[in-house]
Amino acid sequence: MVRVGIVGLGFMGRMHFRCWNADPNAKIVAVCDVDNDKLSGQFAQAGNIEGAQDNLDLSNIATFTNLDNMLKEAQLDAVSIALPTYLHAQATIKALQAGVHVFCEKPMALDSAECQTMIDAAEKTGKTLQVGHCIRFWPEYAYLKQLIQSGQYGNLRFATFTRISATPTWSWQNWILDPKKAGGAAHDLHIHDADFVQYLCGLPNAVFCQAVPGFDNGADHVVAQYIYNNGPVITAEGGWLCADPFGFKMAYNAVLEKATISFDSTQSPTIKVHPAAGQTFTPEMPQKDGYALEIHHFIQSITGQKVPDILTPQQSLQSVKLIEAEIKSAQNATPVKLT
Ligand SMILES: NC(=O)c1ccc[n+]([C@@H]2O[C@H](COP(=O)([O-])OP(=O)(O)OC[C@H]3O[C@@H](n4cnc5c(N)ncnc54)[C@H](O)[C@@H]3O)[C@@H](O)[C@H]2O)c1
Repeated sequence: MVRVGIVGLGFMGRMHFRCWNADPNAKIVAVCDVDNDKLSGQFAQAGNIEGAQDNLDLSNIATFTNLDNMLKEAQLDAVSIALPTYLHAQATIKALQAGVHVFCEKPMALDSAECQTMIDAAEKTGKTLQVGHCIRFWPEYAYLKQLIQSGQYGNLRFATFTRISATPTWSWQNWILDPKKAGGAAHDLHIHDADFVQYLCGLPNAVFCQAVPGFDNGADHVVAQYIYNNGPVITAEGGWLCADPFGFKMAYNAVLEKATISFDSTQSPTIKVHPAAGQTFTPEMPQKDGYALEIHHFIQSITGQKVPDILTPQQSLQSVKLIEAEIKSAQNATPVKLT
């Protein structure tokens, strides 16, 4: 039984709570948040996606306002970090050095140099570090990856990915709209697609990006073109400058040689396969979401079970580097070479 402590009980911390709580191989023994109100478990939590809205029953769980005390007292095997991004590196390194495995939300950290210090600490301590790139596990995206790998409908020719939303308003002290703490929507939101593109097609040879400045001049809406010298044509658009009633939408259209796959989180059914020869159909999807599946993968990894190769800390760092290249490209209005 994995003894876990959750650090940061805001929107994503509550999502982590739901996932850990539902897994029979884990027990939440502690939670930590600087905000005492959160430690009651009873507060209205907003967010851009379903799964974190329920009140939490913390009656048999130790509560802490300080990570050091939790690491000292709670006899943990793992921590699940859902802190604001600018706190990821220091909390991760502290936990690894205390001898516990770390699941840390994406983006891995504020910049690639910080990410490297997290990787160094994981290597030095021999503990597992997994970053919350949930889209690699999200059923409709995992399906696309598997379909392309299977070769059933031939190679991917081109694809567009979209992740757009109303401006997030729920974060603690509004940290998410401060580019120095969150990195703007490019780093916080669009990184999901940048990471998935890397997972699907490998690191591009270059990237070209245009950005719309938003809060405090952060890159809050970006359109990125991933350039593969001999590969597919890939575009991803992401940002949080939509009007409030728009809500949240993630979507893709992927055109393979013998089929087109379309996904749209705002439609029902969300995913459709349109074969060049045959009828459109909707494939069966697992009932769990990417959050539950990524945490299950982490639990399997730290309990010595065999897991498929889905992600590494090095790839999570590469995704941060990809965003850094996109922002540089947008600033200089020119493509940035990566390989
Ligand atoms: N995977 C996804 O789809 C997804 C979605 C949203 C957010 N995120 C990521 O999750 C992380 C958290 O985002 P959020 O939306 O939950 O933010 P949030 O502001 O809702 O929650 C952060 C929580 O951390 C607490 N906190 C702040 N400093 C602390 C400290 N020093 N010690 C303990 N607790 C502290 C705050 O009180 C708050 O409850 C971010 O990195 C964000 O990018 C991921």
